[in-house]
Amino acid sequence: MKIRILGSAAGGGFPQWNCNCETCAGQRSGTLLATARSQSSIAVSDNGQDWVLINASPDIRSQILATPDLQPNRALRDTGIKAVFLMDAQIDHVTGLLMLRESKVRLPIYCSARVKADLTSGFPIFNILEHYCGVDWHDVKPDGTTFTVDGIDHIEFAPFALTSKAPPYSPHRANPAPGDNLGLVIRSTRTGKQALYAPGLGVIEPPVEQAMREADLILVDGTTWTDDEMSRRGVGSKLAREMGHLYQSGPGGMLEVLSAYPNARRVLIHINNTNPILVDNGPERALVAQHGVEVAQDGMVFEL
Ligand code: MLT
Ligand code: MN
Ligand code: ZN
Repeated sequence: MKIRILGSAAGGGFPQWNCNCETCAGQRSGTLLATARSQSSIAVSDNGQDWVLINASPDIRSQILATPDLQPNRALRDTGIKAVFLMDAQIDHVTGLLMLRESKVRLPIYCSARVKADLTSGFPIFNILEHYCGVDWHDVKPDGTTFTVDGIDHIEFAPFALTSKAPPYSPHRANPAPGDNLGLVIRSTRTGKQALYAPGLGVIEPPVEQAMREADLILVDGTTWTDDEMSRRGVGSKLAREMGHLYQSGPGGMLEVLSAYPNARRVLIHINNTNPILVDNGPERALVAQHGVEVAQDGMVFEL
């Protein structure tokens, strides 16, 4: 099984279009050793030809252009993307669906009923797509039930609920419920290996711990280094945890959490442009490496 990182940055990407924080400005001017990253998405395949896109980011067009496997050229109009799975209804994870409107078939989309509700109301992308390719919705239960994707052999998916909130435009933002945000276990039935993917992970609960224990590859929330990073960098006031993201450093942080699973390959993903771990030769990155943890980059491929 191949897992390919299409986009490793959080919403806004790195650098963000209007941001002159230390890391964005340093990347742009070349004074910091840091690589640009596009917005949050991965793709999974067993045979290297047929892929499940997990999240459709606003950067999907350039991500596909950078990934020849996703454009196999077997017909006049063709794609390697067999289906799309959505972890939540956030802008950085669903806006790319609009860019897939030329699909020759009704776009197969796997997501929870809660996410579908948001994408047919507060952010009605599904309704808009009905005027183009249409949507073939597959209901995904947020209870750890395993499912397979039509046309994808030898891979099983097991999504489970994470405690978090729906996006700001959701009619049920004030009433969180299971299915608003998912963690996803991705398993190769050929090799028995499995990955945990959770780009938005605010609270480490027992199902998360179990998934981490069983995973060969852990791809988790690397949004911010500290809880107060937005205010520290002068670009906002919200705490990371208020946005459904667990910070990395210090007691209770993601690095400490990950230190309990030394046998898995552990990679931080969905990195916000304010995060100092983006600097390749900075002290925060060195600390991440000391914990045996990696920082995701666009184009990384994992074989499981
Ligand atoms: C988040 O995960 O908090 C998002 O990246 C926010 C956004 O897309 O604006
Ligand atoms: Mn995000
Ligand atoms: Zn920035």
